[in-house]
Amino acid sequence: MSSNLARQFLIREDVVFLNHGSFGACPGPVFAKYQEWQLELERQPVEFLGRNLTETMRVPRIALAKELGTVAENIVGLTNATLGLNIVAQSLPLKPGDQILTTDHEYSALEKTWAYVCRKTGAEVVVVKVPMPLTSEAQFTDAILSGLTERTRVLFLSHITSPTALLFPIERSIAEARKRGIWSVIDGAHTPGHIKLDLDRLGADFYSGNCHKWMMAPKGSAFLHARPEMQGLINPLVISHGWTENSKEPGAKGAFGNSPFIDELEMQGTRDPAPWLTVPAALEYRHENDWTSVQAHCQALAQDTARRLAERTGLPPLSTSEFCAPQMVAMPIPECDVDQLKLDLYDKYRIEIPVFKWQDTCIVRLSVQGYNSKPQMDLLIDALTELLDLKAGAARRVS
Ligand SMILES: Cc1ncc(COP(=O)(O)O)c(C=O)c1O
Repeated sequence: MSSNLARQFLIREDVVFLNHGSFGACPGPVFAKYQEWQLELERQPVEFLGRNLTETMRVPRIALAKELGTVAENIVGLTNATLGLNIVAQSLPLKPGDQILTTDHEYSALEKTWAYVCRKTGAEVVVVKVPMPLTSEAQFTDAILSGLTERTRVLFLSHITSPTALLFPIERSIAEARKRGIWSVIDGAHTPGHIKLDLDRLGADFYSGNCHKWMMAPKGSAFLHARPEMQGLINPLVISHGWTENSKEPGAKGAFGNSPFIDELEMQGTRDPAPWLTVPAALEYRHENDWTSVQAHCQALAQDTARRLAERTGLPPLSTSEFCAPQMVAMPIPECDVDQLKLDLYDKYRIEIPVFKWQDTCIVRLSVQGYNSKPQMDLLIDALTELLDLKAGAARRVS
């Protein structure tokens, strides 16, 4: 990657930042636009928030919808995917005995969300084990379909998984859920700006994604997409000025002239809309810097690094490359004290990277973004070789 590109980001130079996946990183020109929005708000808050916000919020919705393969009426701007998925999970009319089918690769905050919903409604979560290594679409779909019962009301899947960085082939499972009248709820926290999305074609009932991770918009920018037929099921978690008494009546208008779906969710009391308003600038930045080529380069670097590490560990990958998230790879490492290894990577090498145990596998999850470089990958391999004693052929750091 060009050092010119790396210089455009605000990441500290003394840190080898290999964890874009957790919170993203915003390029300087995009961050500057974000601060411009904040300044404009601060200079005349009443005009900005009181008179103009409905119109201003519309612009990112239109730009983002085009990028995501949908229309502006189907998406609403929120602060994060956790919120989007909570709105859905807490809106669906579940009752005792209903089942939520999901996988063993889900993000822990959303596992908690469904556990909370189950405690309130009497529904239950059913977890399907996805066969590993993941090598075919059929293997995934068969596992999901085998978990469906006549009590399944919700299918909840990550599109790109957090602990394993897998790109789940979810299309057929969504179609099958639709046929059976099961709501599909997709956690797309990692997908916007990472893979090409065509939400209308994908056909999930509900899909929430972050713009602040791989799209590189400022933190606190995300969306919830709902199919038009499903929008009436949604209720806001916070009742504010956007709520209307008759919002569930056919053809009802929202309080600010949009649909109730948009007006009820977007208005949550006073908040800083600047991250959301900066989404068009993030899209423009990507376009101007030919991000498709940058991403292809990152993907090659991620795969190459994983292959080099696997040669040293002798451990097989979690999937074939087509099911690996393009810019993120979960690399199995020998059994070790994962917390100590993470500390050592940071203290001795200034490498910021997640190291954790998932089920029985110790994992280093590598993210590669436009500001990363081949020498950083070399450093990671050298550091892991040293800390895990891989030259000797076996990891000594057993906890
Ligand atoms: C799969 C997945 N879902 C949801 C989230 C939550 O994202 P946020 O904290 O932006 O809501 C994450 C965060 O890393 C994630 O990896």
